[in-house]
Parts: sequence; C-alpha cells; structure tokens
Amino acid sequence: MNTEKFTHEKVLWVKRHTDKLMTFAISRPAAYRFSAGQFSRLGLNLNGTTIWRAYSIMSPEYAEHLEYIAVLIPNGDMSLCFQNMQENNCIYLDKNATGFLLPQRFADGRDLVMLSTGSGIAPFLSQLNQINLWQRFEHIVLVHSVSHTDELIFSGRLQQLSSHPLVGEYAHRLTYIPITTQDNGGMLHQRIPYLLSNGTLSRTCQIDFNPQDTRFMICGNPSMVEDTYSALKQLGFTMNRNRTPGQILMENGF
Ligand SMILES: Cc1cc2nc3c(=O)[nH]c(=O)nc-3n(C[C@H](O)[C@H](O)[C@H](O)COP(=O)(O)OP(=O)(O)OC[C@H]3O[C@@H](n4cnc5c(N)ncnc54)[C@H](O)[C@@H]3O)c2cc1C
Ligand SMILES: NC(=O)c1ccc[n+]([C@@H]2O[C@H](COP(=O)([O-])OP(=O)(O)OC[C@H]3O[C@@H](n4cnc5c(N)ncnc54)[C@H](OP(=O)(O)O)[C@@H]3O)[C@@H](O)[C@H]2O)c1
Repeated sequence: MNTEKFTHEKVLWVKRHTDKLMTFAISRPAAYRFSAGQFSRLGLNLNGTTIWRAYSIMSPEYAEHLEYIAVLIPNGDMSLCFQNMQENNCIYLDKNATGFLLPQRFADGRDLVMLSTGSGIAPFLSQLNQINLWQRFEHIVLVHSVSHTDELIFSGRLQQLSSHPLVGEYAHRLTYIPITTQDNGGMLHQRIPYLLSNGTLSRTCQIDFNPQDTRFMICGNPSMVEDTYSALKQLGFTMNRNRTPGQILMENGF
C-alpha cells in the first residue's frame, strides 16, 4: 500500500492570461475527493526543496481533471515555480482536500451572494457547476473585484453556464458583478465593503439584502475579508457557526 500523504500528478495544460495570472490543470487521481469550495495543497520542487501551498479547486466535484488559478506574486517561491511550469511537468497533490467555505453549511436562505477578490473567485467557480447549489437558492450573485480589466478572465466561462448541460436551465438565476478598482472596465469601481455599506451592491442586483433571506460567502484578500465582514456586521448580519446559524461564511484566499 502507498503510505505517502501525496500523489504525483501531471500538469495537463498551462494558460498564461496576463503577466501575473495563469490557470492550469493537473491529472486527478481516482481516489481524490473534495467538496466544491475546498482547496488542494500542491507541491513543486525549488532548488531541491519541495514547496507546498494551498490552491482553491476551480473544477466541479465531478470533473475528470483538477483546474486552478494562480496569481503570481513578485519574489514568491511558488510563483517562481509556476512561472517556469509547463505541460507534462510533475506536480505533487496532497491526498486530502480541505476547507469550510461550503454553502451546504447554511441551514436555509433564499439568496446567495458570493463576494471575491483576485483568485478568491476560484471556489465559487467550482460551486457554480454544482446542481444542488442552483436548486437550493433562488438568486445567486457573484461579485469579483480585481484591480484591472484584463484580470476579469472568467466572463466568457460564466456566460457559457447558460448552455451547461447540468445547470444551464438555472443560469438565469445568476447575477455577475465584475468590479475593477483601478480602471473603468468593470461594472462597478469601488471596493466591496464600501459598495455593501452604501447599498450599491443590493441596488445593482435588485435584491433586498436582509438576514432572513440573504447568505454571504467571502473569499479573497485577507484585508478585504476582514473589511467585508465588518461592513456586513454593521448591516446586521452574523457569522454562520455550527451551533449558531448566521448569514456569513468566509475564508482568507491567501
Ligand atoms: C485557503 C487558501 C487558498 C488559496 N487559493 C489560492 C488560489 O486559488 N490561487 C492563488 O493564486 N493563490 C491561492 N492561495 C495563496 C497561495 O497558497 C500562495 O500563497 C500564493 O500562490 C503565493 O505563493 P508564493 O510562494 O509565490 O508566495 P508567498 O510567499 O506564499 O506569498 C507572498 C505574499 O503574497 C500575497 N498573496 C498570496 N497569494 C495571493 C493571491 N492569490 N493573490 C494576491 N496576493 C497573494 C500575500 O500577501 C502573501 O503573504 C491560497 C491560500 C490559501 C490559504
Ligand atoms: N508591487 C506593486 O506595485 C503591486 C501592485 C498591486 C499588487 N501587487 C501584488 O500583487 C499581488 C496580487 O495583486 P492583486 O491585485 O491580484 O490582488 P489584491 O491586491 O488582493 O487586489 C484584488 C482586488 O481586491 C481589492 N482589495 C484589496 N484590499 C481590499 C480591502 N481591504 N477591501 C476590499 N477590497 C480590497 C483590490 O482593490 P484595490 O485596487 O483598491 O486595492 C482589488 O480590486 C499581491 O501580492 C499584491 O501585493 C503588487
């Protein structure tokens, strides 16, 4: 029996979207289980040492391969490995996926609002391919805040949801709100906490955000997660915990 905690996988393809943004896919071992919203630990070799980092899985639970997005950080060790990574390279995959950003943790709710910055959109892209999510919520809002328009690389993929064989019939339930904070290419241009506090997000998606009906999931920049949580708290929303149901689930995307 193989007792290693990780498997050796193959990089199937790499796409470079901007100088700091790439997506890639790796082979998936038959025994690899995860829930949409969880992350993998991936390992690569740098100068004889294996570096491990967390990456949210973008693929649906039923996918044959595992897809990820990586934001390349100046002087980051893993970013350096990714810069040189090519198809057919070997990559290590920890056998266990983890994470608690799971919509099934909400006991109830009518509207689901997914708030993300940068690579924090990844768990939500995975979840949008799951039929149970669409059957569960009447309205789904995906907010993605990036600095510049060329980082909005998923607009086409989101448009294609309407022809998706599993979830396509529900895709009209989605409102996608791209935000660019450093240029005018997005639909809105301020940071998420500000747009929540002054009611712009609620007005833009024409949903009355309220504790009875609305559930929020937050993922991305740790300072955005903290500031967004504070803004929602001010509006009367609370954290969802196992023993005390609330309206907010969050995860630092790095
Ligand atoms: C739960 C979880 C999920 C994650 N999912 C992803 C993912 O899907 N895609 C992804 O690119 N990264 C993700 N990360 C971050 C990832 O694990 C690495 O930290 C990142 O790739 C940088 O690694 P590095 O070795 O190059 O630099 P590091 O030395 O690890 O990072 C240097 C600094 O860069 C900043 N940073 C790290 N990640 C990001 C990011 N994604 N966007 C903007 N700034 C960042 C932080 O300030 C960090 O302290 C995730 C992290 C966690 C904890
Ligand atoms: N060296 C540089 O000059 C430089 C410049 C940018 C990024 N970087 C680095 O490059 C990496 C990736 O950058 P990135 O742009 O993909 O990720 P990012 O810095 O997390 O920005 C993504 C989005 O999150 C927003 N945001 C940041 N902090 C927030 C907060 N507290 N509340 C609400 N929204 C917030 C940003 O708005 P804003 O645009 O208003 O911040 C932007 O729309 C990071 O490591 C970053 O430090 C370096």
